[in-house]
Amino acid sequence: MSCAEPGVTCSTKVLSEVLASVKAINAQSGCENWRSTLDTPPDSCAAGSIRPRLVVSVTASVDGRVTLNRATRLLDDAAGKIWHSIHPDSADGMLTARNAELERRYTPQVVLEGSGTFVADTDGPVTGLPSPTGDLAALYEHFLPPEADCRWFAVVDGRGRIRWTYKGDASRRLLVIVSRATPAPYLAYLRSEDVSYLVAGNGPVDLGDALLTMKDQLGVTTIVSEAGGGLNGALLRSGLVDELHLVLLPSLVGGLGTPTIFDGIPLQLGQLPTRLRLLDAESRQTASSRCTTRPTVGRCQSGRSQRNVTWRTGNTGSA
Ligand SMILES: NC(=O)c1ccc[n+]([C@@H]2O[C@H](COP(=O)([O-])OP(=O)(O)OC[C@H]3O[C@@H](n4cnc5c(N)ncnc54)[C@H](OP(=O)(O)O)[C@@H]3O)[C@@H](O)[C@H]2O)c1
Repeated sequence: MSCAEPGVTCSTKVLSEVLASVKAINAQSGCENWRSTLDTPPDSCAAGSIRPRLVVSVTASVDGRVTLNRATRLLDDAAGKIWHSIHPDSADGMLTARNAELERRYTPQVVLEGSGTFVADTDGPVTGLPSPTGDLAALYEHFLPPEADCRWFAVVDGRGRIRWTYKGDASRRLLVIVSRATPAPYLAYLRSEDVSYLVAGNGPVDLGDALLTMKDQLGVTTIVSEAGGGLNGALLRSGLVDELHLVLLPSLVGGLGTPTIFDGIPLQLGQLPTRLRLLDAESRQTASSRCTTRPTVGRCQSGRSQRNVTWRTGNTGSA
């Protein structure tokens, strides 16, 4: 299946599978479910804020990997099956509850993804598109419906790498986020397919600007990013992440360069890590899982919650 090659059509079925796979991952996972907020003033993302609230919701191995290696995407059948095989079978309720909680608290209008979910790092812009004629500058204006009272599946694709046939369904419309550096033929193609897009930034997509446009033009107040580490890392470095919902799968993936929860640019010398405040946490044992969790929740001197978790592998080294 899939949009994993440049120019490969992403059909309604495939996008449904994307959403379904995300939901399936969410529905099946984990021993550990943490919800943390960034250590920012409580009103920094309140309703009156100038940008929408952004919640990162991700499923990861205990060592923080969100996929198996750099080269494969979970939409690939083989990789998807392996990834699903590390999901405990008794935790459906955990993520159903997480999604319900997100819905109850924020009613998020946008699910956000990066292009890396669909295409490989090495894939370039969609090829074979006709060169647009006429007013090229007009292509670089937002292409949004006049009435936008709906929910969105938004994908950052500043390089124009994904070919879509999915344009939306009863529950969500597709919104592609591009920049002024996106090839004009790709923008003409999106218009010809009646796929909505917004333009943010002059090189890579300006994520802060994109969020503001979503609020101003589409009335968006909350976005849930279900992306991989590249996009989530860029959001983090742009100071745009307000909350993290993390489901930990009782497995280790390892591997230098394997996408993690947050990738992107390393901290510079003297730059501080982003601090979190734990909002809540839940752990579940499963019969089929080889992990053992013994979580304890304590308080550090500063009053912030801490958590100790012990895991055991299936290996049998001597004591
Ligand atoms: N376990 C999970 O919950 C989960 C969820 C989603 C994905 N995944 C897996 O994660 C892997 C993909 O992760 P990834 O890190 O390769 O892809 P990714 O998160 O999609 O990262 C690439 C995206 O980030 C954007 N980006 C990167 N740096 C940026 C910057 N400085 N400014 C603006 N935008 C920036 C890119 O924009 P351009 O397109 O414009 O270059 C692209 O859209 C796949 O294997 C996928 O299956 C796992």
